[in-house]
Amino acid sequence: MKGIILAGGTGTRLFPITIAVSKQLLPVYDKPMIYYPLSVLMLAGIREILFITTPHDQKSFEKLLGDGSHLGCKFEYAVQEEPNGLAEAFIIGEEFIGDDRVALALGDNIFHGNGLGTLLRGKINIDGASIFAYPVKDPQRYGVVEFNEENKAITIEEKPQKPKSKYAVPGLYFYDNQVVELAKKVKPSARGEKEISTLNQMYLDKGKLEVGVMTRGMSWFDTGTVESLDDATEFIRVLQNRQSEMIGCVEEVAYLHKFINKSEIEIAVQKYGKSKYGEYLQSLLAP
Ligand code: DAU
Repeated sequence: MKGIILAGGTGTRLFPITIAVSKQLLPVYDKPMIYYPLSVLMLAGIREILFITTPHDQKSFEKLLGDGSHLGCKFEYAVQEEPNGLAEAFIIGEEFIGDDRVALALGDNIFHGNGLGTLLRGKINIDGASIFAYPVKDPQRYGVVEFNEENKAITIEEKPQKPKSKYAVPGLYFYDNQVVELAKKVKPSARGEKEISTLNQMYLDKGKLEVGVMTRGMSWFDTGTVESLDDATEFIRVLQNRQSEMIGCVEEVAYLHKFINKSEIEIAVQKYGKSKYGEYLQSLLAP
């Protein structure tokens, strides 16, 4: 399975913060936002990843993440000229995806929880599509999934004014190879975007959409507003300082999953210098 991280968009809800800087490069506590969705795809065992950015931000992402070899991964970059919607990722990424399955992670979504890696690794041979549902207080801000009495998903609606349930769809999706052709059939919505919810509804109509409810032990943040960005930062700060383990440390994920070995961690320790992040990586080498 290949992975795509969608890190374009205008970030207007965070203006003036995102006028000169890409939203997905902003800090969430002690590391750039993009480290979190990247670590999630790596936890799923995905090592070939395409980063889709705006034309003017591409250089900064390349500077930060390079070709991925330092993480035992292979990174590629592509540009989305205009924010035409999330489903466009599969059209832009057509060549990169080739004949493979693909996972899409939104560059501003953060996940953390016990068993996350195992849960995600169970999706990599998907036939059809697999998404998640997460109970929230403000479902109208998201894609919303409605379930029937047998707990089967029956509709997916994008930002409905009157949500049919409290279950939002987080920004982490797994698809078989048909996604490329289906994405081409998605018509722009009233707000002019090729919606991921339309694509998911297509899979649902074919009886090929699996929806897993994320339970209490899982935390999900979308950092699209100042409040939610601040919440995510606070969450990471509190948890990391209490447990003395990092969340979203991409080198650690690569090391634990044997994508890289000790010598690559040693190089990373030099690269991150005297920062807390560098000190943390150093601590991984202690016997
Ligand atoms: O966060 C989960 C939600 O993400 C889902 O529940 C919704 O179904 C989905 O449409 C999306 O809603 P948002 O309103 O949060 O999407 P937003 O416009 O903020 O874009 C999500 C990320 O994708 C963000 O990092 C910017 C990037 N993006 C967005 C668009 C529309 C792109 O790279 N290109 C785009 O064309």
